[in-house]
Amino acid sequence: MQNFSPVYYLISVLIACFGQVTKTLVWGPGLEPNVVLPARFFYIQAVDTKGSNFTTSPGEKAFEVNIVSPTEQFTRIWVQVLDRQDGSFVVRYRMYSPYILRGPVYHEGCNCPQPSGDLWEKHMKCPGSFAQIDKDLSVFNSLDPDLISTEVPVRFGQRQSLCHYTIKNNKVYVKTFGEHVGFRIFMDAILLSITRKVLLPDIEFFVNLGDWPLEKRKSTDKIHPILSWCGSNNTRDIVMPTYDLTESVLETMGRYVSLDMMSVQANTGPPWHQKNFSAFWRGRDSRQERLELVKLSRAHPQMLDAAFTNFFFFKHDESLYGPLVKHVSFFDFFKYKYQINIDGTVAAYRMPYLLAGDSVVLKQDSGYYEHFYSQLQPWEHYIPIRADLGDLLEKIQWAKDHDEEARRISQKGQFANLVCDYYLFVCVCVNIFYNFSCIYFLQKYAELQVTEPKVREGMELVEQPTDDLFPCYCQRTGSNTVVI
Ligand SMILES: *[C@@H]1O[C@H](CO)[C@@H](O)[C@H](O)[C@H]1NC(C)=O
Ligand SMILES: *[C@@H]1O[C@H](CO)[C@@H](O)[C@H](O)[C@H]1NC(C)=O
Ligand SMILES: *[C@@H]1O[C@H](CO)[C@@H](O)[C@H](O)[C@H]1NC(C)=O
Repeated sequence: MQNFSPVYYLISVLIACFGQVTKTLVWGPGLEPNVVLPARFFYIQAVDTKGSNFTTSPGEKAFEVNIVSPTEQFTRIWVQVLDRQDGSFVVRYRMYSPYILRGPVYHEGCNCPQPSGDLWEKHMKCPGSFAQIDKDLSVFNSLDPDLISTEVPVRFGQRQSLCHYTIKNNKVYVKTFGEHVGFRIFMDAILLSITRKVLLPDIEFFVNLGDWPLEKRKSTDKIHPILSWCGSNNTRDIVMPTYDLTESVLETMGRYVSLDMMSVQANTGPPWHQKNFSAFWRGRDSRQERLELVKLSRAHPQMLDAAFTNFFFFKHDESLYGPLVKHVSFFDFFKYKYQINIDGTVAAYRMPYLLAGDSVVLKQDSGYYEHFYSQLQPWEHYIPIRADLGDLLEKIQWAKDHDEEARRISQKGQFANLVCDYYLFVCVCVNIFYNFSCIYFLQKYAELQVTEPKVREGMELVEQPTDDLFPCYCQRTGSNTVVI
């Protein structure tokens, strides 16, 4: 049978179901014309003849999803159907050209900003507030771009790698400080992506491109707003999603990225009861506790399989740490029930992916955090372990002895409303409940500004990419509409 999801004009989504799957539920942002995402996505839930949801996979071939156009032989859309093994599927598609699906749908490359940020948020069904952003901004009564633009480079511009951004009339300008500014590309990319989607208020801010958060002053002192990928208990930086998440969202179904929050959901390894019941870890030697972890593994190989893939920070003593092992595909981590999350230089940026998989995470207590950690509770979303790993073996044993509880924690971690790749202003929460996308941070920050953001001396314009094969004619801005 066939289900036609939306009423179609120029493209339509066709879902055919086979076998025991006779009915389907279909929902998600990828069916809404107003939503613009790098990769659009929606969900399918398989339902059987009796009307009950499938809770295990109905099989790879249960659905065939096509996005077709009556007027175009080969649509420029790439579709992937990801089996989440629980009776539901994620269908994601990347468009390389604009289409009509009940209304015009712009693809990621379209520079067709929506004039109203509020309307954008409404379309995106954004949550009303974000606790971490509110907390980070709460230490500022006001922000003075004139002052900040001179004071921040004096404090941090000599020794740290920084980017000074101004967005003015929806154009992005930047000046860099420091030697190692390669990671700027992630910030540039996300800011360009956002300005293509929504007209932003004028705003001026600094982004820290280094690993460590910078603002160590007490909240009672004069604090400067610095955006960082990692926060800590001892600093006051404004935490934004990591460059890693940013890239994986922007490049979903792109050329280089294969690991992203959705692909993890479709590659969670064998079912829980068939997983290996050792704890698993791979990584490099970026912290003392990691050395301890590998030593522990060598002493207790049946509890814990931890090994280094790389030595860089410490001397590699093979008698203590064993030989280096080959990289393991991230998806293969989920052959094991217990995943260990241990800090590297700062917080380990694999945490959101580990949570999204179908294993339980044992997380080291740490002063470092990513933007979403405040939504995590120990024993609810992960099993806590001490900073010095002193109780690690005990906690693994606990998980083995309490299999159902461990499994529940794993599932809670997976589906809690926490895996938001809200990259800076847009938020994309990849979970079954669907909250996604907002410009909340930007608006809140802009509201605090008491002087006018300016394009400062030495700033350069960050250009929108021009290599788009199928340019858009924006209906929104009132120019002629041509939608293929
Ligand atoms: C079936 O799955 C859908 C989607 O997850 C859910 O909204 C619905 O409540 C489920 N129905 C039942 C009867 O559990
Ligand atoms: C589970 O993993 C451990 C560590 O990698 C390995 O030694 C053991 O053989 C595995 N057990 C099974 C049943 O595959
Ligand atoms: C950091 O702060 C969190 C939240 O207040 C706390 O749970 C954690 O123990 C602290 N960790 C360290 C190492 O300071």
